[in-house]
Amino acid sequence: MSETNVWPAVAGIAYGGDYNPEQWPREVWRDDVARMRDAGVNLVSVGIFSWALLETSEGLFDFAWLDEVIDLLHENGIAVDLGTPTASPPAWFFAAHPGARVQSRDGTVMGFGSRGMASHSSEAYRTAIVRIADALAQRYADHPAVVLWHVHNEYGAPVGEDYSEQSVQAFRSWLSARYGSLDALNAAWGTAFWGQHYTTWDHIGAPAATPSVANPAQRLDFARFTDARMRECYVLERDAIRAHAAQPITTNFMANQHWGVNLWAWAAEVDVVSNDHYLWAADPEAEIGLAIAADLTRSLAGGNPWILMEHSTSAVNWQGRNIAKRPGEMARNSLSHFGRGADAILFFQWRASRSGAEKFHSAMLPHAGTESRVWREVVDLGAKLDRLAEVRDSRVTADVAILWDFESFWAQDLEWRPSDDVSSRERIRAYYEQLWRDGITVDFALPSHDLSRYALVIAPALYLLSTADAANLTRYVERGGTLLVSFFSGIVDENDRVHEGGFGAPLSQALGVRVEEFLPLREGVTSTLAWQADPAQNLPADIWQEALATTGAEIRATYVNGPAAGGPAITRHRHGSGTGWYVSTRVQNTGMRTLMSAVYEDAGITPSDLPERFEVIVRRSADADFVVAINHGDAAASLAVSGVELLTGSGVSDSHDVPAGDVAVIRTTAPSGGERILP
Ligand code: GAL
Repeated sequence: MSETNVWPAVAGIAYGGDYNPEQWPREVWRDDVARMRDAGVNLVSVGIFSWALLETSEGLFDFAWLDEVIDLLHENGIAVDLGTPTASPPAWFFAAHPGARVQSRDGTVMGFGSRGMASHSSEAYRTAIVRIADALAQRYADHPAVVLWHVHNEYGAPVGEDYSEQSVQAFRSWLSARYGSLDALNAAWGTAFWGQHYTTWDHIGAPAATPSVANPAQRLDFARFTDARMRECYVLERDAIRAHAAQPITTNFMANQHWGVNLWAWAAEVDVVSNDHYLWAADPEAEIGLAIAADLTRSLAGGNPWILMEHSTSAVNWQGRNIAKRPGEMARNSLSHFGRGADAILFFQWRASRSGAEKFHSAMLPHAGTESRVWREVVDLGAKLDRLAEVRDSRVTADVAILWDFESFWAQDLEWRPSDDVSSRERIRAYYEQLWRDGITVDFALPSHDLSRYALVIAPALYLLSTADAANLTRYVERGGTLLVSFFSGIVDENDRVHEGGFGAPLSQALGVRVEEFLPLREGVTSTLAWQADPAQNLPADIWQEALATTGAEIRATYVNGPAAGGPAITRHRHGSGTGWYVSTRVQNTGMRTLMSAVYEDAGITPSDLPERFEVIVRRSADADFVVAINHGDAAASLAVSGVELLTGSGVSDSHDVPAGDVAVIRTTAPSGGERILP
């Protein structure tokens, strides 16, 4: 979690996107800045993929074109987020250092002609990234246009794990620092299994393609190592910049889109958190996935404002079916990020590319030019954000935390788990989705965090849980918290070893249950849970059951059918002054309301009765609440609120109607008694 937050020197809400002028002749640049002014753009990211044009051969720099671009932007009042181009090393680099190429798990050595960093363990690459970062920082540290540094691009994609020889060697050193001795490593990895015992460090490799399943502890450590190596590369660049420049430094995350990097650790290394988000077009309610990403980003930022570094004005180009955004959808997406704490709304990219792999990707200025719906909406969004300047730096607060631990997901998502149907992503989405529908704002947190400020903590997928973290969760319950744990949680320790005492043992005190056996269901089989409080509300479930024994918990639902028929399915346990709920199956979405209503009651949380697909979030400052209302639905929705609607400037008394597909931001004066629009 980010402790510090240094905001780039841009007035109001920042607005703009990636700007790639090197793809265009100079005369277009003048048109670009004129159009940027029309749209209200005040921040653009420059140079992210420009290495080959900035360092034309090793150590030979050509900054003339970039000088011109940055000066031109500055003359037009547009600030610059200056990229380091290290996600795309030039052809000369790979020609000089062929050994720096990345090797995939199946042994393929990656070729040139795309993008993607070189091996994060290559010394040649590490030297080269420091050289270019240092040169850029020396040249532009004092340029008044430069307000932010953007290191690299989306660490972890397209290059994450590297199986090259230099990576294997670095892995050995990393392991030796982690474990100290081979005995410790053999024990942690459980190498007695399948005769994998190591007698010398030199025999340890990366978990490359193997005849059968590779050692899961080895794979988990390789994921940790990969994450750490990439972060070292980031820190090398950041420190090279910091030696000359005082502006904040960031790198763009992919929260909830790419899970290959442990963003909690990364957030501690940036001055300001920034994130890229793209809608998953196949999802009919993609706004919920967007909200997860935004809430996760805010949580990574420690609640501080964050930068939406990239999203799209309309379709992307890399999905199976790239669905164009419908009129108003871009503004709804942008305002949802804004409502969830983003004080900068940026896009990939400013002007659509004519050449290359992304020519069918939408842009702020599309191929169709200014005579287009997208352009008109881009101009309109710029004007909207201008009217929201006063909201900047206000905060979003949440009473509920969902636990999100990348290391646990890495371990859970390996092969040979009890059922292919169990997915950490799916359960997170299911619980989050119910909270979203109930108008309850969510933070994300690690199980090691201080959770005491949350009334409710949910662990939808926490397969890997250290004993210390389990003790933290148990303490949280003891002291009055409500904890809900979904099945297949607390199963293994940090080395993917089943906890002594059995499945879920470290949480047994908090939950008052003992998991005796997993009972996954066959594909397509559904089951019913008898809801004890009201048989009319029996819950549908599927994919998984458990032979569950209570050791103090009360039974809230039992299995009506399936292998665990008659046994407990959902339990509730009083521990200390709090409550631990355990849900031993996948409750289908239609049953979630019944389940969560009972859980909310324990936590003292009141859900909001919002119309379908009506998203309402509150940002708070010292003397005002800003209610951001986004209507994703097909019918007008009404909100009980008084104040001033900032996008139109009109007064609102008692209630405000938000037309289908529209957005509203209402400044309300915070009632003195602490009564809030939303809980
Ligand atoms: C991002 C990437 C951008 C662009 C964009 C297209 O992941 O950072 O450079 O490729 O995707 O959607």
